[in-house]
Amino acid sequence: MLAKDEGCAALETRGLGKRFPGVVALADVSLAIKRGEIHALVGQNGAGKSTLVNILSGMLTADEGEIRVEGHSVDIGNPRRAIELGIVTVYQELSLLPNLSVAQNIALGREPRRRGLLDAGAMRAAARGALDRIGVAIEPDRKVGALSLAERQLVEVAKALSHAPSVLVLDEPTAPLAAREADRLFGVMHALRSQDIAVLFVSHKFREILDHCDRATILRNGRKVTTTALTGLSEADLTEAMIGTKTPRHVHSGLRARGDVVLEAAGLSYGKVRDVSLTFAAGEIVALTGLLGAGQNDIARLLGGDLVPEDGEIRVRGRPARFRSPRGAVAAGICLLTDDRKQEGILPNLPLGDNIALPSLDRRAVLASWIDQAAERRAVGTQIARFGVVARSLSQPMRTLSGGNQQKALLSRWHLDDCAVFVLIEPTRGVDVGARAEIYRRMEELAADGRAIVIVSSDIQEVLAVADRILVVRDGRIAAETSPRARGEDELHLMVQGAA
Ligand SMILES: Nc1ncnc2c1ncn2[C@@H]1O[C@H](COP(=O)(O)OP(=O)(O)OP(=O)(O)O)[C@@H](O)[C@H]1O
Ligand SMILES: [Mg+2]
Repeated sequence: MLAKDEGCAALETRGLGKRFPGVVALADVSLAIKRGEIHALVGQNGAGKSTLVNILSGMLTADEGEIRVEGHSVDIGNPRRAIELGIVTVYQELSLLPNLSVAQNIALGREPRRRGLLDAGAMRAAARGALDRIGVAIEPDRKVGALSLAERQLVEVAKALSHAPSVLVLDEPTAPLAAREADRLFGVMHALRSQDIAVLFVSHKFREILDHCDRATILRNGRKVTTTALTGLSEADLTEAMIGTKTPRHVHSGLRARGDVVLEAAGLSYGKVRDVSLTFAAGEIVALTGLLGAGQNDIARLLGGDLVPEDGEIRVRGRPARFRSPRGAVAAGICLLTDDRKQEGILPNLPLGDNIALPSLDRRAVLASWIDQAAERRAVGTQIARFGVVARSLSQPMRTLSGGNQQKALLSRWHLDDCAVFVLIEPTRGVDVGARAEIYRRMEELAADGRAIVIVSSDIQEVLAVADRILVVRDGRIAAETSPRARGEDELHLMVQGAA
């Protein structure tokens, strides 16, 4: 770690630039993060946030510019060096090894040893200590592959903290977290701030930024727009600074006509999900919401064929449907989007165009011989434009799209699937505010077109902005049903926590 000079920023960049083939990801970015400040990094999907984060963490090398730590010019070069310099990063795409335990992942590369042998007890204790710090009770011996996305995210944070950072860089850490877990993370960030540690925090959730950060740097198309103090700013101010124009917030479009029942579940059970019965009608948008692990994701995965019920029945348009996979569900008219991009079957090395067309090509494999490729490309092109996917071309490899653009690309598969019911788990995770409004509009269009939309969301603002009915899930059961007209944000928070 470098000697501190009180007059210097903890971390500073000067004139950073980074190009990828066909795109300038960063141009002339200079910013300074002070000790004891939580500094937000804001920008639309593809603005260059993760590129900046990856340069600071040593994963990427800048084409030009300088990085200073405590006033000293440094050459980061690789992730190990970044950590030596005190810069510790939690990446946007999770990086834990699924086959190792939580404790092994946290200790990776610096396992405690006693007389030359691995000290498993010390390793477990260290993991427990790191998890305790963020108030998370995850058993250190559990395999990471068996954890939920939110739990994995929390393990990433615990692991980062165990490196005792002087600058902690967090790339959308709250994207997979519900309010309560996010609040714990903010508690940790505030504690770090009072220990004079610098925090760089990337998020698309402006409410969090306004509530918890001191200053923000805004990027637009790889360039810095400004660095600003956040006191007195509103969500609308941030949106305007980020996009360059005023954009109205999405408001609920009002009552929709409810058609025939299209999907029914009776007595569904699986794991902690117990005896859940639900009905969904054409033309409605229904939100399932709850605390982390309350069972809302499993209910959605049961409806979408990703889990097979231990008990109970699903009926589509009155007829029993027994599917055992998401593909089987599609055949029955139910289309599932899970919250795990890796599990969604993204093929990272294949072009964007193929990634969007594949699920439907798959189903039409028998017809593959006469699929009109030009028409397919046109359809895919129209669709990604509609969702505002920012990419150079349809042949750009999926892995080189920014995180939010990958999510938008997944959503744009919708049009190719003629489903009666869409089950969407956290569809706007990592998506910027402008594109989020676009997705809400698309959901409303589909509902108006007579589809039923079931959305799992831990974002209360989102639930209130789009849902016609809200089902609150607690302990694997539907604990309450309400409507956005009946409840405000605070009331719904309390309901989710079981306090109302
Ligand atoms: N390895 C790569 N090869 C080519 N282009 C890339 C690569 N990585 C990123 N890009 C491009 O650089 C630009 C900036 O991407 P970046 O991931 O930094 O955006 P971001 O601000 O983090 O967006 P998001 O909010 O969606 O995460 C995008 O146009 C992206 O497609
Ligand atoms: Mg990113």
